[in-house]
Order: sequence, then structure tokens, then C-alpha cells
Amino acid sequence: MTQGNEPTVRELFDLTGRVAMVTGSTGYLGRSMAAALAEAGARVIVTCIDGELARRTAEALPDPHGVGHKSVVLDHMDNAGPARSFAEAVELAGKIDILVNNGHEPLGRDWTDVTGEQFSRQLANATGYFLLARELRDHVVARKAPASVIMLGSMYGHVASYPECYEGVCPANSVAYQVLKGGVIQMTRHLAVYWARDGIRVNSISPGPFPPAAAPQEMTARLCKKSPMGRIGKPHELRGAVLFLASDASSYVTGHDLKVDGGWTAW
Ligand SMILES: NC(=O)c1ccc[n+]([C@@H]2O[C@H](COP(=O)([O-])OP(=O)(O)OC[C@H]3O[C@@H](n4cnc5c(N)ncnc54)[C@H](O)[C@@H]3O)[C@@H](O)[C@H]2O)c1
Repeated sequence: MTQGNEPTVRELFDLTGRVAMVTGSTGYLGRSMAAALAEAGARVIVTCIDGELARRTAEALPDPHGVGHKSVVLDHMDNAGPARSFAEAVELAGKIDILVNNGHEPLGRDWTDVTGEQFSRQLANATGYFLLARELRDHVVARKAPASVIMLGSMYGHVASYPECYEGVCPANSVAYQVLKGGVIQMTRHLAVYWARDGIRVNSISPGPFPPAAAPQEMTARLCKKSPMGRIGKPHELRGAVLFLASDASSYVTGHDLKVDGGWTAW
């Protein structure tokens, strides 16, 4: 239903008929974002480094139109992984329209003790994001179809961490992670510009503090004190952002970083 010549809000946010690949969607935030895209009508390809966990996660997603979500194994730290897993996903679902580059190999070492090898390996998460995004770009250009790529940045791709949030509790947020996320946000801008005329939008979401329940309680309490809203984020608070960027609701938005951070970077 349209109002005049304009699409309705429901139409703008509707993902019926689209296929969305969400990497790391067995994880804390990815699971919630995948569920949002599924609820909006998309067929979701769950990816994880653990195939059985990916399969169970796909089965548990909402499926309002009975499209049947799928799963593939993806290790984006293996340079051959993105091409292999992308091809497998296309084989399973026929096409991919939306890519959420969310998966992440973590690093528990801060500036005091990270080795050169560990630092470089952390940055390789960005290589994985790029290689997978380029697979999507080539796929949709061949299909002459539009697409949306969403990268997961972080508040720590914008600002440095407060040392006092971590001191005496756990390692500081990793310097390599902050280099990685700053780079992911810049890669988003770069690819958005180069791929705009191919009809591919590239945006990022930068979550603020979303520590899971298993994170050290003292660290979480200190993060809350530093937040303008005085609390951490809950995974469902990313759902609106990912649906906006994945759908036609953001059809004129590209190269943008959408901060969902409770105001963390505002002061
Ligand atoms: N949780 C937060 O506070 C927070 C804040 C800002 C940004 N982020 C970003 O959000 C994203 C999701 O974070 P999360 O907290 O849900 O993490 P998580 O550890 O719960 O989930 C990570 C996911 O990545 C997958 N993964 C691990 N290694 C991989 C690899 N080599 N290749 C592909 N996938 C791999 C895991 O299987 C898992 O599904 C990450 O990119 C993270 O940097 C998180």
C-alpha cells in the first residue's frame, strides 16, 4: 500500500524476499540482530566458526513467512574462508542481498603485553570483513541487484578507553582492537564511495558498552558510571539500527556510522 507515490513505513522496513548473511550471529549481539532481520521477513544465513551452533541458531530464529533460515561455517581469519563460505551461502539460499559483518575473533591482551603477531592477527578481522564484503559486491553486480553491507564498528573506533574502567579488574580494552575498529569505520566510508554507483550501500554500526553478563561486574559498573545514560546497552537495542541500515528505510544513507552507544561518544 502506498500513500501517493511514496512507500509506506511498513514497506520501507519490510525485508520480505531478501536474504541476509549475518556473520558471528551465534554471538551475543549478532543473534539479536539476526532475529531482527528475520522478524522483518528476511531469510537469514547464520554464520559461526562452529557449524553445529550455527545450525541450531538458524533453527531458533523467528520465521514469519516460513522461508527456512540457513547456516554456514565461516572463519574470516582464514583468507580463503570468506569466498568459500559466501559461495556455500549462495548455493543454499540462491542469493544474498544484505551482509552484516559482525563476527569477531577477540584478543585479551592490552598494550602492556600484546605481541606483534597478536596485534597483526587482530587487524586481520578487518581483512575478513573486506574479503566477504567484496564477495557480496561481485555477486550483486553480476545480478544487477542492490545491496546493503553493514560493518560492526565500536565506540572504541571513535574514542580511547578510560584506563580507570579496567585498572585492577581486567586487561584494558586492547589497543589492537581500537586500531581495528577505527579502521573498520574508515573502510566503511571507502567502500561506500567506491561501490555507491553499483547500488551497494555500506554503513557501520558502532555499539557503545554492551558487556555480556559474564563480563567482570566491577568493570561493567565502572562503564555504567562513564555513560551519560548511566547504563550498558542490551542486545535488542541494536535491532532498530540494523533493520534501518539493512532496509529501504535507509535507501539514501551510505558511508554512515550509526552510533548506538547511550551517548558515550557525545561528551
Ligand atoms: N559487546 C560489546 O560491548 C561490543 C561493543 C562494540 C562493538 N562490538 C562488536 O560487535 C560485534 C559482536 O560482538 P559480541 O559482543 O556479540 O561478540 P561475541 O563474542 O558474543 O560473538 C562473536 C561472534 O563472532 C564469531 N567469530 C569468532 N571468531 C570468528 C572468525 N574467525 N570468523 C568469523 N566469525 C568469528 C563467533 O562465532 C561469535 O558468533 C563484534 O564485531 C564486536 O567487536 C561489541
